[in-house]
Amino acid sequence: MTYLITGGAGFIGSHVVRDLVQQGVKVIVYDNFPRRDNLSMVLSPEAMEKFVKIVPGDVTDYALLVKTLKDNNVDIIIHLAAIMILEFNANPLLGVRANLEGTAGVFEAARFLGIKRVVWASSGSVFGPGTMYEQEYIPNDAPHYPQNLYGGAKSFNELLAAHYINRYSMDITALRFVMVYGPGQVNGRTAAIIKQMVYNPALGKPGKVPAAADNVLGWTYVDDAARAVVMAAKVSNLKTKAFSVMGRIHTVQEVADVVRSILPKAEINLLPLDKSQSHTIMTCKYDTARIEEELVFYPAWTMPRGIKETINVVRRVNGLPAVS
Ligand SMILES: NC(=O)c1ccc[n+]([C@@H]2O[C@H](COP(=O)([O-])OP(=O)(O)OC[C@H]3O[C@@H](n4cnc5c(N)ncnc54)[C@H](O)[C@@H]3O)[C@@H](O)[C@H]2O)c1
Repeated sequence: MTYLITGGAGFIGSHVVRDLVQQGVKVIVYDNFPRRDNLSMVLSPEAMEKFVKIVPGDVTDYALLVKTLKDNNVDIIIHLAAIMILEFNANPLLGVRANLEGTAGVFEAARFLGIKRVVWASSGSVFGPGTMYEQEYIPNDAPHYPQNLYGGAKSFNELLAAHYINRYSMDITALRFVMVYGPGQVNGRTAAIIKQMVYNPALGKPGKVPAAADNVLGWTYVDDAARAVVMAAKVSNLKTKAFSVMGRIHTVQEVADVVRSILPKAEINLLPLDKSQSHTIMTCKYDTARIEEELVFYPAWTMPRGIKETINVVRRVNGLPAVS
């Protein structure tokens, strides 16, 4: 089996690559900005050499994507390449190209080459804020009320996937992630929060967190997100075509408290929300019963364990001793 992972050098992607390589699988990383530091954080040079081929390529370059898939006899595509909310807001044209045209290109290339299995990353941001739903936990098949361009594009991509599934009998599954955190995170809103609240204190620097203390989020440690991707990729014809995936529910304040309990000298300031960004941060709880039932996937990492691991990986990479 050969896997191609778009965005495979990214935060979640590098952890998916690691898990596949640990299973002895050959992986093609297709990424337009392949950050080797992410991959080398999770893989030995020997494993990289033996199992991973990096192809610097853009998902909007349809010809290169088809050639790469064909030349490497790819069996399964994992599509994670995307730009994040803040970048999409700042540059809608880039967002439309990368997240919409790029995803259409991936599905179309898979159809053209007869690659039936595609697993891709949607997002909890297809949904509106919790106040728009009757249930406390937003059901898996609740209507979409995206509040920003990024969420709207992910919602459209779920429609696009349904089109390829219904018209061409393709086997496409989306995982709607939310608040995935861990080491190696650079891009997006979650990264901005984690950098200030976890990475900076881990390195003895102060953190000014761009999130309000009472925001309630489903903290998903990156190893759980990667495990869900690999589990989904290995099962064919799942009934549900888009699963909400979420870790443990905690307020931002609770996470800050855990960081302080591990690093008593941590200087963490939770900032009042910038009004211009308030629509992008929301309290959200998603019903994950579907992925539990169909894929038998449950997050394994508690928030305190995931935060401690993140702190210690950041410290290790920066030559500092682990904290207990
Ligand atoms: N991190 C989260 O909390 C979260 C939450 C919901 C959904 N997601 C989704 O999960 C996926 C992975 O996110 P991540 O956190 O690892 O982000 P990331 O930015 O770390 O990784 C994305 C990777 O895609 C690459 N990329 C971007 N545009 C590309 C293009 N046009 N062509 C080829 N490669 C391109 C980037 O270079 C990067 O390596 C994304 O689709 C994202 O929308 C993430």
